Amino acid sequence: MRQNEKFYNTLKMWYLINKRDLPWRKTKDPYFIWLSEIILQQTRIAQGTSYYEKFADKFEDVFALANSDEKTVLKMWQGLGYYSRARNLHSTAKEIAGSYNGKFPNNYKSLIKLKGIGDYTASAIASMAFDKKHAVVDGNVYRVLSRIFGIDTPINESKGIKEFKKLAEELLNPEDPGTHNQALMEFGAIVCTPNNPQCKNCVFNDTCEALRFKKVALLPVKSKTIKIKKRYFNFLVFDHKNEKTYIRQRLHKDIWQNLYEFPLLESKEELYDPDEILNFIKNLFYLEGEFHLKKFNENPIIHKLSHQTLHATFWIVNSECLVENSISWEQLNDYALPVLIQNFVDKYKGLNE
Ligand code: ADE
Repeated sequence: MRQNEKFYNTLKMWYLINKRDLPWRKTKDPYFIWLSEIILQQTRIAQGTSYYEKFADKFEDVFALANSDEKTVLKMWQGLGYYSRARNLHSTAKEIAGSYNGKFPNNYKSLIKLKGIGDYTASAIASMAFDKKHAVVDGNVYRVLSRIFGIDTPINESKGIKEFKKLAEELLNPEDPGTHNQALMEFGAIVCTPNNPQCKNCVFNDTCEALRFKKVALLPVKSKTIKIKKRYFNFLVFDHKNEKTYIRQRLHKDIWQNLYEFPLLESKEELYDPDEILNFIKNLFYLEGEFHLKKFNENPIIHKLSHQTLHATFWIVNSECLVENSISWEQLNDYALPVLIQNFVDKYKGLNE
């Protein structure tokens, strides 16, 4: 038996016995496969499943999603992060509905041209919905292959990306590439996990190079190139008699594009002086009458994103007069807010109830 046959037969046997019963595994419909794969790029299966069900229930086909408005899609996406994914999801739904008669293209080359669909998603849809021979390579696949085959090429450099893609293609089961791809990811999620992998019960433990050379914990290798940027955010939370507040939309190209937030003063370092905040308010708003400023959190809230760490301070502005275009605290529920802000709102409302 050829090497790759042994590999995919072993994997297939394991998968048939151990796979989880997940809703998108019951369908070959590219719309639902696309939806699940976009969501699963953002989160683990446990959380992803509930988001998937919410989207699949509300948007029963690509036309329903296309006909929805971006605000609704962003609100439903709230909590998953990387909101450009949600905007791309909506935009691609519109394109499929408008230019493709609601039918997803059935090949990798056309799929990868769509917004938000890269090598991973194009391979996933082409293989799972259309049985095309394309291998998916996600974080799970990098981990499993780097360990079983003892490969220490960094997975975040182009050399490693090419090497792992080539190997994954060679190992693919030509008879059922879609199931094979899911099996490899599932194996990485259940057995060959980042921490405490189940090597004792692993079906590959007789040949795994990493196990043999005691390198399981060292693989896969990632080169340290990404510099994490620190940012200091000061949010102004207007509170008019516990009834009204004020938010605005972030329209510029940055994190949280198109989501809503309290007016923000970004600074180079943490601000201690309320006068700086007062000046900012005076420049931005015309406020008649008295207002009071109070720091809500004594120490900045640390919020980690993939490439930046936010240090956030919420400043409560109790004002006598109302800022133009204020909304009630209840109305805030209708807007898509970054999780950092939603957490603050929940806490603040809880204290004022
Ligand atoms: N992770 C992302 N997509 C997956 C899938 N279809 N099966 C298992 N794990 C996954």
